[in-house]
Amino acid sequence: MRLHEKRQDIEEDVARILKEKKSIGFVPTMGALHEGHIALVKNALANNDYVIVSIFVNPTQFNNSSDLVKYPRTLNSDLKLLSDTSPNLIVFAPAPIEVYGVNQSVLSYDFDGLEHVMEGEFRPGHFDGVGTVLKHLFQITSPTRAYFGEKDFQQLQIVRKLVSIENLPIKIIGCPIHRHLDGLAMSSRNKRLKDVEKENASLIYSVLQEVKSHFGTKSVDELKDLVAERFKNNAFFKLEYFQIADSNTLQPILERKNDCKYRAFIAVFAGEVRLIDNIALN
Ligand code: PAJ
Repeated sequence: MRLHEKRQDIEEDVARILKEKKSIGFVPTMGALHEGHIALVKNALANNDYVIVSIFVNPTQFNNSSDLVKYPRTLNSDLKLLSDTSPNLIVFAPAPIEVYGVNQSVLSYDFDGLEHVMEGEFRPGHFDGVGTVLKHLFQITSPTRAYFGEKDFQQLQIVRKLVSIENLPIKIIGCPIHRHLDGLAMSSRNKRLKDVEKENASLIYSVLQEVKSHFGTKSVDELKDLVAERFKNNAFFKLEYFQIADSNTLQPILERKNDCKYRAFIAVFAGEVRLIDNIALN
């Protein structure tokens, strides 16, 4: 494994790899790595000659400044976790100026409506920040393939749209959600949960499973009521949104049509910590 902090250094490394006509898999992350991230890295290592993992807490995608300040930063343990994966692993851990230059300007994207719902509705500007940083990171790393988790399913669909808008020759690979044994989706933000919140957080996935088991027999409205009921008066979790949407367009649905794929999406607050999850319904 080798570590680059400077844009120029990684660009030289990438140029050398491309000259050898080798493939590059890219796994962008914001660090505080867990097994979900490592699964993306392993998938990338199995299918590419070299793998670049970026560790960069991207300031432009945080609509809440305290969330940005409190986002866990654990570079030393992240590097330790990655150090025994492969000699062909390259870590890029830049300061913001290496990615953005001096003015940190954010592009404004039209993602065809994908950006207005759910995360886009509750985190204004978030996906412009994600699109902007990935445009820069894709330019720096020139990947053959880039790996994203279904944990952030809306982000995954937006990234697919981004490469089509920017006309980038990158194959986007979606990877399944990694969960703790009790069902809680792994997330860097879980590090901020209190013990009692962690002990009760299996509720989120169990509610999604309950929704899935009733999808087809209960109406969308009845399912929304069911979810609201499960979180009503809960001492630890506050429901921000629950939505059932078409998996491709991400537009919320009022009723099920047989030939479409649907997913349920949820966001909850445990105190100040915001958690998201989703599940395929059919
Ligand atoms: P981050 O939250 O660190 O996630 C990095 C990648 O890991 C994303 O593709 C995310 O979907 C995936 N991931 C996170 N938890 C996962 C889990 N439990 N199972 C499977 N995959 C999981 O997403 C971001 O960073 C940023 O928005 C980024 C794309 C790096 C742009 O700044």
